[in-house]
Amino acid sequence: QGQLRGVVALDGPAGTGKSTVAKRLAMVLDARYLDTGSMYRAIALAVLRAGVDPADEAKVVAVAENAVLVVGTDPRQPGITLDGDDVSSAIRGPEVSLAVSPVSATGNVRELLVAQQRAIIEDAVDHVGGIVVEGRDIGTVVTPDAPLKVYLTASAEARAARRTKQDSAAGRESTVDAALADVQRRDKYDSSRAVSPMKAADDAVELDNTDLDLSGTITALLELVERRGLRV
Ligand code: DC
Repeated sequence: QGQLRGVVALDGPAGTGKSTVAKRLAMVLDARYLDTGSMYRAIALAVLRAGVDPADEAKVVAVAENAVLVVGTDPRQPGITLDGDDVSSAIRGPEVSLAVSPVSATGNVRELLVAQQRAIIEDAVDHVGGIVVEGRDIGTVVTPDAPLKVYLTASAEARAARRTKQDSAAGRESTVDAALADVQRRDKYDSSRAVSPMKAADDAVELDNTDLDLSGTITALLELVERRGLRV
């Protein structure tokens, strides 16, 4: 038993159960949790609320520069506010899921958010000791010195099926076909963008959880954390 010391970088595509896994891991390790995707989503929501075209880079950057995000790092209740407004649920809607791809492909937006992410991570390590950070570029860009980097993957079909289940549990309408198309569209977009494309860091451990459930995935991750001596 014991607490996490340092940063666990958890990257990978949508639909691997990455958020659930990251939160659960942080709880078990008595650590903080940072969902960097929620920050890109909140900026995408700010863009939509401002009536700005998500593909209009200059305007998107201006919106991002003026947006005030406060990101919670308690794995039991992360939450995020945009200009003082709790947007934790609003950022999960389909309009935001569409707008977030071009927004997160904007270099200046990434620069702004990466700086905020590094500050949050540093603060957590200083005050709590450990943090589990999930995203697409954590091991490659945000914290390239993280002592453990994991790239979580699963087959596109498995990820689409999980997304559909998640959506209906949350009361959102969805079908496996639509979810698969969305997963494939986002994979393609996220891994082919010019700025910080989604890819595994050279020193990341790849974990494919197509055939693992949540507890199997957690067990595999805890083993890695312990083997690296990060649980003290
Ligand atoms: O993990 P998510 O689905 O909430 O992420 C939302 C979008 O933000 C996704 O399209 C990829 C992007 N993203 C990113 O580019 N870099 C990150 N570190 C996290 C998310």
